[in-house]
Amino acid sequence: MTTAIIHPDSKKKILWDVLILTGTVFATVYIPFAIVSGSVHSGLFSIANALILLLFCLDIVIESRTGFYEQRELITVRKRIRNHYLKHGFVPDVLATLPLFFILNLLLPEESRYLAKYFSFLPLIKLLRIQKAINRIRNNKHINPSFIRMGLLIFWIFISAHLISCAWMAIWVDPSALNPLNASSPYLRAFYWTMTTVTTIGYGDITPSTPLETLFVIIVELIGAGMYGFIIGNIANIIANIDIAKSQYQEKMEKVSTFLRYKNIPMDLKTKITDYYDYLWESRRGYDEASILEDLPRPLQISVSLFLNRGIIQKVPIFQGASEEFIKEIILNLRPVVFTPGDHVVIKGEIGYEMYFISRGTVDVVSENEDIIYATLGAGSFFGEIALLLSAPRNATIKARDYCDCYSLNKDTFDRILIRFPRFAERIREMAEKRQEETAQKQSRRQKTAANQNNKS
Ligand code: CMP
Repeated sequence: MTTAIIHPDSKKKILWDVLILTGTVFATVYIPFAIVSGSVHSGLFSIANALILLLFCLDIVIESRTGFYEQRELITVRKRIRNHYLKHGFVPDVLATLPLFFILNLLLPEESRYLAKYFSFLPLIKLLRIQKAINRIRNNKHINPSFIRMGLLIFWIFISAHLISCAWMAIWVDPSALNPLNASSPYLRAFYWTMTTVTTIGYGDITPSTPLETLFVIIVELIGAGMYGFIIGNIANIIANIDIAKSQYQEKMEKVSTFLRYKNIPMDLKTKITDYYDYLWESRRGYDEASILEDLPRPLQISVSLFLNRGIIQKVPIFQGASEEFIKEIILNLRPVVFTPGDHVVIKGEIGYEMYFISRGTVDVVSENEDIIYATLGAGSFFGEIALLLSAPRNATIKARDYCDCYSLNKDTFDRILIRFPRFAERIREMAEKRQEETAQKQSRRQKTAANQNNKS
């Protein structure tokens, strides 16, 4: 009979890994504690130990049937799985399940039976194997990686502190000698001693009294000094990375405001610049999409850009019903730009190098001296196409009314798109002609009224 291969990412396997992780943590906490607190010969300890061994035995069976990834390729060939497991993890897994505690308890004479308890530590070897389950937690895409790192750091601190506390309890000669509190809760006192020692606080209320204790304290102090540095370094790093975008943004803001002060930039301009950065932060957390995308391969760039720019594609009427190829071409070449209220995005008479699509905000299309408003354009509209189409100077000025999120398209891409997609070219030409006519009409109307007024006066 052939048995099925287990998928390493299947729900059942993940649940199993969680169970093994729980069993390992339980064994790590319970076994050393039971040994130092003298409950190692109780029935409860034997039952718990037997259950742990059984669980770990089953894990060997399951692991020897679970596929694995080699350079992202899932391997499901039975022979390769077995060889891989033999090389990676089989030995510690078997050592962790050896029932030496039970065997020695049965075989050893009464007076040396106490030796058996040292072999009940074997399941702790499984700690070496929980990295896979921990990596699974680490790769969880729903939780901030910094929180996961912090959680794992706390987990390892507590596991190490627990093991050190149990070791201290094992060699601590008379816990009740110094303080009556020690007798009622020796573990708590041992844990307290561990924490004050490894964090280098060391109140000195619990001190070594025998050579063995002194040696142990020296070792724990050395470990503690290393651990302390490790913890502080890690915590500082984790906190700095919890919101990496925010810390980078704050750093940038500090640089900008130092520059503005150093160059004596006038107050109103300073306010405009800081408002611009505030808006960038609020609208896109300060990220520069283009610089993130440029590291990705083209197919991924397309998928991410399609997702990020789906809003503008839906908003702009001339994109509706366009072919997938056209959308891809446009999307990959759009560059996000932000304009602040009052900005002159385009100035009449200038040479045009790009056109713009509005995603959010409104702009006014105005005459050179801003006395005629030809039109007001909002989300989904575009402007700047006439200069590109005719290779002529801009025929109006564009002034941002409020904060405007726009996407620019440069002339080279625009020309390429016109050649490749004649339907789009036709629609945009029609629109441009209509706009030119409208603008010309409004201009001549204004000139006529001005002339009439001059005649009257
Ligand atoms: P361009 O000439 O490149 O730069 C100014 C832009 O204003 C122009 O392209 C058009 O996109 C836009 N424009 C000009 N006149 C109008 C109008 N009447 N209605 C809407 N937009 C206009």
